[in-house]
Parts: sequence; C-alpha cells; structure tokens
Amino acid sequence: MPVVQRGAISQIAKWIPTDRKIMVVTDSGVPFNYVQEVLSACPQGYCYVFEQGEKNKTLDTVRGILAELLSAGFTRTDAVVAVGGGVVGDTAGFAASCYMRGIDFYNVPTTLLSQVDSSIGGKTGVDFGGVKNIVGAFHMPKAVVIDPDCLRTLDPRLLHEGLAEAIKMAATSDADLFSLIEEDGPLEPRLDGIISGALAIKGAVVDADPTEKGLRKVLNFGHTIGHAIEAAGAGSLFHGESVAAGMLYMCSDAVRARLEPLLRRYALPVSDPFDTETLMGYIGHDKKKQGDAVTAVYVDTIGSFEFRKMDMEQIRQCIQNHKNARI
Ligand SMILES: NC(=O)c1ccc[n+]([C@@H]2O[C@H](COP(=O)([O-])OP(=O)(O)OC[C@H]3O[C@@H](n4cnc5c(N)ncnc54)[C@H](O)[C@@H]3O)[C@@H](O)[C@H]2O)c1
Repeated sequence: MPVVQRGAISQIAKWIPTDRKIMVVTDSGVPFNYVQEVLSACPQGYCYVFEQGEKNKTLDTVRGILAELLSAGFTRTDAVVAVGGGVVGDTAGFAASCYMRGIDFYNVPTTLLSQVDSSIGGKTGVDFGGVKNIVGAFHMPKAVVIDPDCLRTLDPRLLHEGLAEAIKMAATSDADLFSLIEEDGPLEPRLDGIISGALAIKGAVVDADPTEKGLRKVLNFGHTIGHAIEAAGAGSLFHGESVAAGMLYMCSDAVRARLEPLLRRYALPVSDPFDTETLMGYIGHDKKKQGDAVTAVYVDTIGSFEFRKMDMEQIRQCIQNHKNARI
C-alpha cells in the first residue's frame, strides 16, 4: 500500500533505500524543489528532465533515460525514481522495466490523478504510432510515496480532473468515500482521506485482477461514452473531464442526482455538445469493443456497480435517452 503522508517528499529515504545510484526522472512542469528534496537524500543521485506533456510520452524519451542510465553506469541493484504526474511515472517506469531487463522503480506522484490512479497497478508505457499507451510493460513499483502537500502547486483544473477519478472509484465501490468527497467545506484538508480511500479501491481491484482480465474493468466507469466525448472534443477536454461527463450516461436517476451537483462544484463537465451519431462513430472504433458489443459499467446505487454487456443499438438508446432527458 502506498505511503500517504504530508511532508513525505522531504523524508524520502524512509521508503527508498538510497545507498546506491538513483536516477530521478521528472518533467519540465514539475516544480524543481520536489526533485531537489529527493536528490538531497541520494548520495549518488542523478537527474533526467524531459519536456512536459503527453506528446513526450514516447520511445524517444525512454531512449534518453536509458542512455543516461547506461552512461552513468547503472547496474541491476540501482534504481529509478519518478517524481511527477502520470506522464513521468509511465515513462520512467517503462524505462526501469527494460533497463537490464528490469531494475527497481519507485514512484513519487505529484498530480492528484497520478496519486489516486496511475501510480499503482504496475502499468507502465508510452504512446506509439498515434496510439496511447500501446507499448509498455507491467512493472510494479517497489514503493509509492505520496505527499499531498505537492498538490498545492497544481493547476486547479488538473486537481479537479484527478478528483473526477476519485469520484469515479467512490461511485462504484465506496459509498463512505463518496460522502467524504461530497462534504461541505474546502477540499484541501480532506485530500489525504480521499487519496487513501481511492488507493484502497484501486489496490483491491488490481490485487484481484492484476492483468485486467475482469474486475479491473470497474475502473472504466464513465469510459464507454467518456472516451467518445474525449475523442470528439479533440483535446478540448481532459481525460478525467470526459470521464466525468461519461459517468452521467451510465447511472440511475438517483445516482445522477448526487453525481451531477458534485461534478459541478469542482467545475467538471456534466454534459457534452456532441450529437448521438458523432459519439457512436467514436464508440464503434473503441479498442475496448468486443465484436458488436461493449461491456459498460453501470451504477444503480452509490458504492456498487454492475457490468452490462451492451450492443451498439443499446448504447445508442442510452445516449439518446440521456440527451432527451436533459432537453
Ligand atoms: N499507468 C496507469 O495505470 C495510468 C492510469 C491513468 C492514467 N495514466 C496516464 O497518466 C497520464 C496523465 O497523468 P497526469 O494527469 O498526472 O498528467 P501529467 O503527468 O502530464 O501532469 C500534468 C502537468 O502537471 C505538471 N505537474 C505535475 N506535478 C505538479 C505539481 N505538483 N505542481 C505543478 N505542476 C505539476 C506536469 O509537469 C504536467 O505539465 C497520461 O499519460 C495517462 O495515460 C496512466
């Protein structure tokens, strides 16, 4: 289970054995003082910084990290530490997975999305040939160290995008966590509890289904339509924002009545401007489609879920009904 502790980044040697070579990998958007905190605990510390952004989650960046590991003489007993969001974690983790057939990897996630989601589960990888996350490996981090104080410097839109992922997990799997997120008052003091609650859900799901054969699909709540909204939006909406809008299509009226005000409160979208056929066009191309059907996650009561195998006509109906109800 990851460590969730305010100030953890300044005590990193508690969780990462640093009496060896350590390559700290980060990107240009991560405040450098977080990297310096980690490096100051590493007598043999090295640092690799790449340009921020999803467009740099590539094999070229992995090649750059590998070249640095090689020229600094890293061996099988040395380690890579990611300090940054999901882009850094996925890229650095993949480099660690293939250098000398795999060296120790540690993740210090600094965005809410990476703290509640991408830092655990062992999925690493990069985008290739225009397809997201198509080249990668499962490589479990030796430890994940989460310092919620790092979120103070995060852009609010990114903070709320990460919160959408926590809301998604709570909606399917933990009614108490959902209530905690719903509480009145500032979000900041509740972040530790929200992060721990979301991690407990993701951890349990990953333990039960490490290679995504079944239960792990529960994490796809909101994705069936959300992916289509994201693709139709062509970059105007973040992934978590698209998932937020997508969840509202796949739940009961009672769930929607709680979900919608919560999403609004954190400036997350509760509708999308795309017509049914536009969305259907993208769902038809979705890589998660099996034949003419998709398995959607449906939430009837907060804290529970069901898998619904739906054919294209049922999906079309579902989109149409939701859009009609909003007119
Ligand atoms: N491996 C998995 O299981 C998994 C799961 C979900 C998402 N992902 C991946 O995660 C990536 C998205 O991650 P993300 O949302 O963290 O985006 P990101 O890594 O691009 O980070 C967003 C921006 O925030 C900056 N940043 C990071 N920490 C900061 C901080 N504390 N203060 C200020 N700025 C900071 C970064 O430099 C970047 O510009 C995608 O590539 C996605 O595919 C992976």
